[in-house]
Amino acid sequence: MITLRNLTLRRSAKVLLDNVSVTLNPGEKIGLVGRNGAGKSTLFGLINGSLHEDSGDFSMPSQWRLGQVAQDMPDTDEPATDFVLGGDTRLMELRQALARAEERHDQNLDSADLGMAIAHLHSDLADAGEHDAVPRAQSLILGLGFRTDELYQPVNSFSGGWRMRLQLARALMCPSDLLLLDEPTNHLDLDALVWLEAWLKRYDGTLIVISHDREFLDAVTNVTLHIERQQLTRYGGNYSAFETLRSQQLELQQSAFSKQKEKIAHLQKFIDRFKAKASKAKQAQSRVKALERMEKIAPVLADADFTFEFKEPANLPNPMLAIRDAVFGYRPSAEDPAGSPKIILRGVSRSVLAGQRIGILGANGQGKSTLVKTIARDIPALGGTITEGKGLNIGYFAQQELDVLRPQDTPLEHMARLARELGPNSGESSREQDLRNFLGTFNFSGDMVKQTVGTMSGGEKARLVLAMIVWQRPNLLLLDEPTNHLDLATREALSMALNEFEGTVMLVSHDRALLRAVCDEFWLVGRGQVASFDGDLDDYQRYLLDESKRLRELARVESAAGAQATQPAKPEPAIASAAAEARPALTPQEQRKHDAQQRQELGARVRPLKRELEQAEQKMAQLQAEKSTLETRLAGAAPPSELAQIGRRLKAVSEQLLKLEERWLALSGDIDAIETAR
Ligand SMILES: Nc1ncnc2c1ncn2[C@@H]1O[C@H](COP(=O)(O)OP(=O)(O)OP(=O)(O)O)[C@@H](O)[C@H]1O
Ligand SMILES: [Mg+2]
Repeated sequence: MITLRNLTLRRSAKVLLDNVSVTLNPGEKIGLVGRNGAGKSTLFGLINGSLHEDSGDFSMPSQWRLGQVAQDMPDTDEPATDFVLGGDTRLMELRQALARAEERHDQNLDSADLGMAIAHLHSDLADAGEHDAVPRAQSLILGLGFRTDELYQPVNSFSGGWRMRLQLARALMCPSDLLLLDEPTNHLDLDALVWLEAWLKRYDGTLIVISHDREFLDAVTNVTLHIERQQLTRYGGNYSAFETLRSQQLELQQSAFSKQKEKIAHLQKFIDRFKAKASKAKQAQSRVKALERMEKIAPVLADADFTFEFKEPANLPNPMLAIRDAVFGYRPSAEDPAGSPKIILRGVSRSVLAGQRIGILGANGQGKSTLVKTIARDIPALGGTITEGKGLNIGYFAQQELDVLRPQDTPLEHMARLARELGPNSGESSREQDLRNFLGTFNFSGDMVKQTVGTMSGGEKARLVLAMIVWQRPNLLLLDEPTNHLDLATREALSMALNEFEGTVMLVSHDRALLRAVCDEFWLVGRGQVASFDGDLDDYQRYLLDESKRLRELARVESAAGAQATQPAKPEPAIASAAAEARPALTPQEQRKHDAQQRQELGARVRPLKRELEQAEQKMAQLQAEKSTLETRLAGAAPPSELAQIGRRLKAVSEQLLKLEERWLALSGDIDAIETAR
C-alpha cells in the first residue's frame, strides 16, 4: 500500500501538492493525470525516492521492487537483447554472484562452502527465470515493434525514438511490484501501443502510469489520480469514468456556487435596504452575521483555458516547395567517409502549395522524420532538387524538441536569442517587456520566464517550442509529433490554431484526433517512397494493421497518384442562377385559393416534423431518466468494478441526449418558421 498523509511537495518556490492524503492499494492500475506542469513527474520522483516531501508522510512497503523507465537516452554499443536483459536486475545480480563464486572456486578457495553457495546460486537463477530470460527479453523487443534482424544490433545504431523503446523494454523486463511509467506512449506507433496495452493488462503488480492519451488510459487503468490546483484526488474508475464524475462534480459545485451567490445578493440587498431604518436594524444585523458565516464555496474557475494563434504570414509563396526526383537519407558518417550513404527515400517528386494541409503517414522508421528534417534544411538531400518558393519561412517543430532548446537557458533568454537571430527587420520587438508579454500569452507567467528550461516539465518545454515557432511568423509549418507531452487542453489549442493558420501545414503525428482536425490530404511514406494516400484515417489504420491488404493498397494508391497527376483540373461548377421567375399578378379569389393551398402544403410539411419532435421528446425523457439513474448509481452504491461500465454508459447517454436536444431545437425552429409563414 502506498500512503500519502497530509503531504506537501514543493519545487523551488512552487507548491505542487498542498497537504494531500491519498491511499493506493496493491494491484491497482492507476492513471496519474493533470495539466502540463501540475507535478505528475515530480510525484514519481517522490515515489522513487529521488525527491522528498516537504512535510507530511509518505510510505510504501520497503520490500517492494520498483520498475521504471530511465529518462536518459541510452548510449551504448551493447546488443539490443543484452541491453534489455540488463533490466532484470535480480537476474543480473545472481549472474554476477555466480561468476564471482566460480572464479574463487577455480582458485580453490574455501571450496566446501563455496560448492554449496554455487548450488544455491544455480537454483536461485532457475527461480529467477534464467532459462527463458533471452526469449522473454526478445518478446518484449519484438512486441515494441523491432524486427527479428535487429535483436542483436547495437543500441546506438537505432534512432532516438527506437532507443527510448529499448529503454521501455528494459523497464518491463525488470521484475517489479510497482511499475512507474511516465508517458510511455510518446514514442510508440499504433501496433506497439496495442501490444503495450495488452502487456500492462496482464502485469500483476501495482501500476502508476502518466499519460495524456485517453484511449490508452481507458484500456489500462481502473483508478485515476488527478492533480489539480495542488490537490490530489482519487477517483475509482478509468479516465472516462473520471471525466464523467469530474464534470458532474463541477456542475454541482457551480450550481451550488450560483445559488449561494443569489442568496448573498439577496441578503446584501436586504441589509442595504434596512440598514438605515432603525426598526429593522436588528434584523439587518443578524443578516450581516449570516452573510459572514456563510461558507464561501470556491467558485469553479474553469481552468484558464489556453488558446493561441499563428500570426498571418507576411507572404504566401506558391508553390512553397517543388521537390524533383529527390533522394532522402544520410551521408556516410565522418569516421567512414568512404562508406555508402544510407538512402531512405528515393525518386520523390512532389509540390507543396500555399494553404495545403498535408498529413504525413507511415509506420515508424519509414522515413517521415527524415523527409521533414530535409525539408527543414537540417540535413541535405542526397540527390535531386528541392526548390523553395521566394520568401519561404519554415517553422519547424522537431520530434526531439530539446534539439532547439538549451537546458541552461530560460524562456526569456531563448526568446531574446531568437529576436537577435531574426534581426531588427523581422518587425517584432525585442524589448524584454514585449518578450515577457509574448511568453505570457503562452502561459509562461512572471516566475517561469526566468526558470531554466532544463527544470521545466515535458509539456512546458513543448509549449515553449510552439511559442518560438509562432514568434518567427512562418508560412510553412513542419510539425513532427508536436503533441507528445502536451496535455489535452493544449492539444486542443494547437488544433484550433492550426485550423486558422493561413499558411501551409505539413504534419507528422500519431494523434489521430489532430490529423483528422487539421489535414485534408495525406502523403504515405513507406517502402522507400512517398505516395499520395487517398483514403481517410480509418483506411490508414486498416492499412497499417493488415499486411496483405497493405500491398494491394500501396499499389492502388500509387497508381491513383499517377492517374491524378495526369488528370486536368476539374472545371468549377457553374453557379446556378438564383433569380426566381416573376409570377403574373393574381385576382383576390385566386390569391385566397393560393394562400389556402399554401397553408395546406405547409401543414403537410409541418406534420412529420411535429411527429418527429414528439418522438424526440419521448426519447429525451427516457434518456433523461436513465441518466439520472446512472448518476445516482455513480454517486452512491455501485461496486467499483461496475464504475467504468456505468461511466461509459453515462457518457453514451449524455452524448445521445445532446444530439437529440440539438435535433429538437432544429425541429422546433423549423416548425416555428413554417407556422409563422402560415
Ligand atoms: N528544479 C525546479 N525548479 C523550479 N521549478 C521546477 C523544478 N522542477 C520542476 N519544476 C516545476 O514544477 C512543475 C511540475 O513539473 P512536473 O515535471 O512534475 O510536471 P508534469 O505534471 O509532469 O507535467 P508534464 O505533463 O508537462 O510532463 C512545473 O511547473 C515545473 O516547471
Ligand atoms: Mg511530466
